[in-house]
Amino acid sequence: MENPSFISSADQAAVPFKTKWQAPSNIALVKYWGKTEPQLPKNPSLSFTLSSSVTTTEVEFSPNNRETFEFEFYFEGALKADFNPKLNSFFDRIKTYIPWLNSYSLRISSQNSFPHSSGIASSASAMAALSLCLMDMERKLFPEIAEVGFYKKASFLARLGSGSAARSVEGPVTLWGKNSVQKTGSDLYATAFGTDLNPVFSSYQDTILLVDKGTKAVSSSQGHQLMHNHPFATQRFIQAGHNLADLVAIMKSGDLDGFMRIVETEALSLHAMMMTSNPYFILIQPNTLEIIQKVWKYRKETQIPLCFTLDAGANVHLLYPQKNKEEVGAFIAAELVSFCEQGQYLFDEVGTGAKKV
Ligand code: PMV
Repeated sequence: MENPSFISSADQAAVPFKTKWQAPSNIALVKYWGKTEPQLPKNPSLSFTLSSSVTTTEVEFSPNNRETFEFEFYFEGALKADFNPKLNSFFDRIKTYIPWLNSYSLRISSQNSFPHSSGIASSASAMAALSLCLMDMERKLFPEIAEVGFYKKASFLARLGSGSAARSVEGPVTLWGKNSVQKTGSDLYATAFGTDLNPVFSSYQDTILLVDKGTKAVSSSQGHQLMHNHPFATQRFIQAGHNLADLVAIMKSGDLDGFMRIVETEALSLHAMMMTSNPYFILIQPNTLEIIQKVWKYRKETQIPLCFTLDAGANVHLLYPQKNKEEVGAFIAAELVSFCEQGQYLFDEVGTGAKKV
């Protein structure tokens, strides 16, 4: 049993309820790559919570006299069965922790603020939004749940849907996984970085350059699997632990040179793991490298602290302080747009976490 304290009671009369939550996507600065069952990370990770890239989910709970849990899932207004396998395994995993769910039929309606296949991690925002709806129902049944316990368990449930979703509940920066610098760090859920976050990071910009909007050749789940028996796995997990410890200090001090060095190291290490897996694979594309070279040249010439990170795909996230928004925007429009599929990119920035709508 993972953590008995997360199991709620089933002894409560079922009541109808409807709730709606909006949860953001996130971008990891220290990457989670490699896990054990059930969705436990092999190393700690740290991420920026985004602001405009969100999933909004409404759940209608209807008491079900047959005592058999069932759900219908609507995506952008249409009944969508494609997501049912993923949702079924999510519900199977979380039912132990929210046993009251068995007396309900759910109507789940979800929509994303960002375009489909834009390379933004929609599973993170989607699983977080759904988990918050479930926790809201739990709070209706058991009103004594404390605020901090509410968000912790929402992150715990979200993690069981998609690992990185654990980091999409709170903001502006979250930490997930046992680590050497934070005594309370847990593999079970993510928590918000403390109040000592340097102010430069609470308004940091993330512009997502859409290099390739297509489906990835190798999914994240397959990639995580390939970290078992990976020749460099042990060293990678140690590296991530050190990078996290260094980055935590930097998130307090505001040392932007240190920030850029760690963030770019992490992005390239993630992709180096992919390229050295068995079987090996490559998700970056020629335009990803063109952009990286341009960013380095621009940084050298202007001294503007612009850096990049990568998710599990070819798209590039450009990270920079809010005060440099104008000049970086001009640089993107002039020099980077030609490397984006159909010239597309999205402006986002660090946000404060999920909210009820
Ligand atoms: O949450 P998953 O299983 O899709 O894995 C996410 C892995 C990365 O996005 C590549 C890194 C991360 O920490 O978000």
